[in-house]
This record gives sequence, C-alpha cells and structure tokens, in this order.
Amino acid sequence: MSQYHAVPVPPMSIRFDQAAGTLSPEGPTLTRRMSDLEGLFRDHEAWEKAVADGDPVVYSVISSPVPEIDRELPQSITTIQPGTTGGELWMTKGHQHPNHQGEIYLGISGRGGLLMFDGTETRWVEMTPGTIGYMPPGWAHRSVNIGDEPYSFLAVYPGGAGHDYGWVLEHGMGLRALSGADGVELVDYVEG
Ligand code: 6PG
Ligand code: NI
Repeated sequence: MSQYHAVPVPPMSIRFDQAAGTLSPEGPTLTRRMSDLEGLFRDHEAWEKAVADGDPVVYSVISSPVPEIDRELPQSITTIQPGTTGGELWMTKGHQHPNHQGEIYLGISGRGGLLMFDGTETRWVEMTPGTIGYMPPGWAHRSVNIGDEPYSFLAVYPGGAGHDYGWVLEHGMGLRALSGADGVELVDYVEG
C-alpha cells in the first residue's frame, strides 16, 4: 500500500452518457461562450458581432469528481459545437500546462483537430472517434471542431498541471484552422 493511499476520492468507475452529455458521478461543468474567447479569433469584428448576436455557447467541459491536485489524474469531456467566426473554425481557448506536463485526448464523437505549439514548432493531429492524441510536456494545445456536428473528446491530465491561458494570448498557437473548400485549411497565425 502506498503512502498516497488516503486519497480524496476512492477507486471508482465513472459513467459517460453520451446522449445526455453527462458524467456520473460528476464534478464541475464549464461553459464557454463566444464572449469568453476574447482576443483569440483572427477577425475581431466578426467575434464582436457574434457576441452581440446572442453570444452562443462554443464549447462545454464536464469533469469527473477527481480533483485537480498533485498525483491525481482528473478527466474531462469537452464538446465543441460546429461553427465558424470570420471563417475560423470554432475552437477551445487553448492553454499551456505550467511546469510542462503531458496529457492525452481520446476522440469520442464528431471530427476535430488537435493543434499543438511549443513556441517554435506546430503540430496538427486529426481526431476521430478512437484516436488518441498525445501532447508532450511543453506543448500548448487547442482543439478545433472541423466537422458539422458537435466534436467530443476525453482528456486525461495530471492533477497538478494547472492551466496557463495567458501563454496562448502572448505566443499564439503557430497556426489557425480556417474552414476551407476541402474542410480545414491551416494558415499562419497572424496577430489581431
Ligand atoms: C485540460 C484539457 C482539456 C481542456 C478543454 C478546454 O488540460 O484540462 O486540455 O480539458 O481544458 O478541452 O480547453 P481550454 O482549457 O483551452 O479552454
Ligand atoms: Ni490541457
């Protein structure tokens, strides 16, 4: 028995109901509306208009009860709605994990992209149901819905990783994912 046996949550199974979009037992749920994505879309005017036109929900994150603390391994399921703003596919804010920690995603439904950026190099991984995407330590990550239905994926990450959103505002993500004639078109990240 390890010295870490006395944990805040016991061994457990967690049920994901895809139709209902719920976890049981459940932890916190986060809803990100367009207004929460300030400064992230290339076309600022299109973003402002979308905020004024009903401020739609862009994505939600439901979490298991496993806490975000050192040595624990929390999970969450993100669902990104389909859509574009100024031609840019709807996406998560994107973040870096302080102290550089790895993370995995598993595609559950819909079609997505996992954009990773280490400050110099960029990687794009297409995510379909069953795809495992791996983010090594030090790679900021953003998810994009590249299909026309909701895109859902499971994330598993170290509980002490933390989330640094300022990093992406400062450094960008290397590339942007636009809606193109053949699906997604990746273009250089340009400020503003
Ligand atoms: C994490 C995961 C993932 C992510 C969501 C929302 O570290 O917790 O990468 O659960 O937080 O997909 O993305 P943003 O955190 O970038 O808004
Ligand atoms: Ni992460």
